[in-house]
Amino acid sequence: MDAAADIENAAAALRAGGLVILPTETVYGLAADASDPRAVAKVYEAKGRPAFNPLIAHVAEVATARRIARFDEQAERLAARFWPGPLTLVLPVADERAVCDLARAGLDTVAVRAPAHPLAHALLEAFGGPLVAPSANRSGRPSPTTFADAMAETGAAAAAGLDGGPCRIGLESTVVALLDLPRLLRPGAVTRAEIEAVVGPLSEAEADAKRSPGRLARHYAPDLPMRLNATEPRDGEVWLGFGAGFPEPLNLSPAGDLAEAAANLFAYLRAADRSGASAIAVAPIPGDGLGEAINDRLRRAAGYVG
Ligand code: TXA
Ligand code: MG
Repeated sequence: MDAAADIENAAAALRAGGLVILPTETVYGLAADASDPRAVAKVYEAKGRPAFNPLIAHVAEVATARRIARFDEQAERLAARFWPGPLTLVLPVADERAVCDLARAGLDTVAVRAPAHPLAHALLEAFGGPLVAPSANRSGRPSPTTFADAMAETGAAAAAGLDGGPCRIGLESTVVALLDLPRLLRPGAVTRAEIEAVVGPLSEAEADAKRSPGRLARHYAPDLPMRLNATEPRDGEVWLGFGAGFPEPLNLSPAGDLAEAAANLFAYLRAADRSGASAIAVAPIPGDGLGEAINDRLRRAAGYVG
């Protein structure tokens, strides 16, 4: 099939209440019609996801997002600056049918994002409404950043899949709530500094973790136990490096580039699982810029965050 036929086929699967493996610029998603509770239930089932963890509604255009959610001036500014792209906004819900109760886990807020990947955009346009799309991993596991990894995680539950190649960014979108003060609920591909340049200082995320119900302790986790900030490996460990002087091939970025490390992170955790080692040691990674999101995922993958 050619690309246009693949898109039509995937849109038809969604209209029939089926699930679709969806490439985005961040990670692969498992997409369903956001307005269809039965389709959304299949997503939770395929992921083995606790039903209290709400999903992101993906849209092709900001106009669709404005119908679903109540945009204030700060939301308009953030969308104008970062959409399409790796930023999710949590806003008061405006249309409770467009994104069903189950997709919002019963909350009166809704998370919206307009992804930048051309295939995601094309599918959203062809489908014509919002799609929920959590990362296509089974709950708690590393997010898939290649089509093969996505298919291996939840492909069995999908009626169709779009292969968009390896994800350019490799880390999930940044989640910002605009309910009272702007809050960072999940650090991600758009950095804290980039958000603050638009809306001013953000409240601390961790102090408010309960508001982002998805932020469970052990999350994004490989099968093997992990040890962070490891300056040298111990017996039996595979070492994920960062910067010059670390062994190949599992150096997240030999050049010490955070964007490259983000893009490699989840695929390398999977590769480490397959390496035959008994544990994973990860070299120190700077915490500035994209490093905040990388270190957040590493702490959760290691189970350090309660
Ligand atoms: O990059 C991404 O955002 C990827 C791609 C596929 O678009 N999707 C993704 O979805 O990471 P998911 O479901 O794995 O993560 C959604 C996050 C969770 O932490 C969830 O708790 C939070 O967004 N979230 C969703 N709706 C929310 C709401 N109403 N209030 C607070 N947090 C919300
Ligand atoms: Mg996820």
